[in-house]
Amino acid sequence: MRDRRIALLGATGSIGSQALEVVAANPELTVCALASGAQPLDDLAARLGVSHTQVGGELTGLLDAAAPDLVLNAVVGFAGVGATLWALEHGVTLALANKESLVAAGDLAMAAWRRGGGLLLPVDSEHSALFQCLEGHAPQTIASVVLTASGGPFRNRSAEELESVTVEEALAHPTWSMGPKVTIDSATLANKGLELIEAHYLFGLDYDRIEVVVHPTSVVHALVRFRDGASLAHLGYPDMRVPISFALTHPERRATSVPGLDFSVGLQLEFEPPDPERFPLLPLARHAGEEGGTYPCAFNAANEVAVAAFLDGRIRFTEIAALVHHALDEVDGAPAGDLSALVEADEQARRVTQGRLAHAA
Ligand SMILES: NC(=O)c1ccc[n+]([C@@H]2O[C@H](COP(=O)([O-])OP(=O)(O)OC[C@H]3O[C@@H](n4cnc5c(N)ncnc54)[C@H](OP(=O)(O)O)[C@@H]3O)[C@@H](O)[C@H]2O)c1
Repeated sequence: MRDRRIALLGATGSIGSQALEVVAANPELTVCALASGAQPLDDLAARLGVSHTQVGGELTGLLDAAAPDLVLNAVVGFAGVGATLWALEHGVTLALANKESLVAAGDLAMAAWRRGGGLLLPVDSEHSALFQCLEGHAPQTIASVVLTASGGPFRNRSAEELESVTVEEALAHPTWSMGPKVTIDSATLANKGLELIEAHYLFGLDYDRIEVVVHPTSVVHALVRFRDGASLAHLGYPDMRVPISFALTHPERRATSVPGLDFSVGLQLEFEPPDPERFPLLPLARHAGEEGGTYPCAFNAANEVAVAAFLDGRIRFTEIAALVHHALDEVDGAPAGDLSALVEADEQARRVTQGRLAHAA
């Protein structure tokens, strides 16, 4: 593998810190730029010898200055849009953890990707799994793809019980250790909804060819169903260092310290359909995706505002879905021709959701 200079965006987060472990394990990988939202980067930059750093604000200037070979976008939320578009437009390899950017800016991102012609490597474990299962297979042989969902901590809670779950309970994810926003998204299944839209763009599949199944142990990350009745699945213990390493060292699939499956201790592979009644954000995301235009952007924006309000103790868990539903009813969803129109659509959905929150308070 030739030397790769990596711009690590979201360096202080869960993905960011695991990426630093992967970088440390591979001498050809070096970090040339670091970004965070608010946490200082001075110590980390000094330790890694990085001169290009940025805390908050637009990331494209940092990327222009650092001229990386690979951008790992591990920012959380819509704040990652500019960096995703920058990498795709410049044909710079993009290792994408920030699913929100592809959901919100899917059409603009696809156009930028076509113009730039670079590599887009998913870091989300389900999409990394699909990328690997799809490699080398002609599109006409694919019947559908299946994303697995752990079901989160509330898989077995009744609709009534969901009304009173606490922030602490929602943050206690059964299988994955992640940042707070994606952990809440996993508990509501909004995360799987975002991933559904992400898969639509990444793999160019219509929504009726993307399935979701609940699989509590998160050992099967995704499956591809082929037209001949066969399915290929990707299995492994849930550990993000695997898809991060896959993306950063592609196509070499370097070794990691993550152990392979140990069958001597048994392996539970159970599957069940998701419940759209108790977890309405999943069908809402599918609906937003099918509607297209800026509906996915509005879904994402309203969800970000609602999750922040839940984490602040301002709303109940079940109100997250109600707020997103309201925003999708209120926005016009018109397609965005450029980034400024997209930012306006994002802001409109945030305003609608904040307005509803203020009204309810
Ligand atoms: N964690 C996982 O296992 C996992 C798995 C699959 C996909 N993902 C996706 O990966 C992304 C990151 O998740 P995470 O769990 O690592 O989140 P996280 O632990 O909350 O970290 C988020 C990172 O983004 C930074 N950030 C926030 N706003 C920013 C801004 N305006 N500009 C630059 N950086 C900003 C944060 O900086 P501060 O620390 O300064 O706030 C932090 O470094 C999300 O899109 C998530 O859905 C995560």
